[in-house]
Amino acid sequence: MLTMKMKKFLICLVGGICLAGGIMMLSNSTTKKLSNNYSHDITASLEKLEQEARERIEDYKGTEFSKKEMHLMLDQLLAHPVGKAVFISKGLNGENIQYFIGGAPTETNPMIRWFCDRSPVVLATRERFGIFQKELQKRLKDNAHFASIPCGIMNDLLKLDITGKQNIHFTGIDLDPESLMLATKNANERGYKDICSFKEADAWKLSAFTNMFDLVTSNGLNIYVKEDAKVTELYKELFKILKPGGTLITSFLVPPALVSQDATKQRIILGTIIGIGWQNFRTEELTRKQLAEAGFVDVEIIYDSQRMFPTVIAKKPAT
Ligand SMILES: C[S@@+](CC[C@H](N)C(=O)[O-])C[C@H]1O[C@@H](n2cnc3c(N)ncnc32)[C@H](O)[C@@H]1O
Repeated sequence: MLTMKMKKFLICLVGGICLAGGIMMLSNSTTKKLSNNYSHDITASLEKLEQEARERIEDYKGTEFSKKEMHLMLDQLLAHPVGKAVFISKGLNGENIQYFIGGAPTETNPMIRWFCDRSPVVLATRERFGIFQKELQKRLKDNAHFASIPCGIMNDLLKLDITGKQNIHFTGIDLDPESLMLATKNANERGYKDICSFKEADAWKLSAFTNMFDLVTSNGLNIYVKEDAKVTELYKELFKILKPGGTLITSFLVPPALVSQDATKQRIILGTIIGIGWQNFRTEELTRKQLAEAGFVDVEIIYDSQRMFPTVIAKKPAT
């Protein structure tokens, strides 16, 4: 399973972990870049990335951790396939998010354990995933057509329980053919093959799906877009593909208010050791304004307990 994971990366930024589309082998060469939405160079070799990380550690002026401790953290990251994946891609792909969300109960690597048990962003992501599941499940009615954009491996829809529901359909849309292949495999394994379809498309070009869906779920795309206007454009596209009266479920990252030992450790691991250099936070106020500009009404925001990664539920007016 990890071998499959190691084959591709769709990079993420979630409160310091970034998301973007791209494919990278865990060899020393890069295969291809998919999306123009992400801002770091993924063409560097592992050796070069490691050398840069060691230099960042040596240059670090803070006192929270000794350089020896930071080098050890990097060693531990690189000793694990998922840690190495996070390091190379400067983030998490859809599969690796699920690895952390699942808590990896048998994992003993100290860095992976810390991510699963203590990293504020992983805890917020796990909680957000649970909130999405609850909100999606309660809206899953007979004849519902739900879409996930970008779908990644589409666990948001494929983890739903369709027992007793009639004529459900799930559509997964993503720019990356390999994600769509993994999502198809996931649907087959889940026994949902016959109720799913998958389409390769850019989330900013969704005219082919106008007025098609009862509900659209969208996690992990807006948060790595720097320009506010481009996020508003994304919301406009998602609005367009909903049926009148349809529902959008999405998320955004709020500026961090949290100061704790784990938040500090996370900042050092993500910023200094992994080298993530940018983050796209938005306030609730700005998000509400963007959604209103796109045409959405009845916006409800559900916060996770750390107030890091809120869930948004918004409606397209019925008429
Ligand atoms: C980390 S995944 C998020 C997947 C899933 N929604 C989740 O929460 O796990 C980010 C996805 O965005 C996709 N992506 C990046 N740019 C895109 C674009 N312009 N249009 C559609 N999908 C895009 C990537 O291929 C990747 O599958």
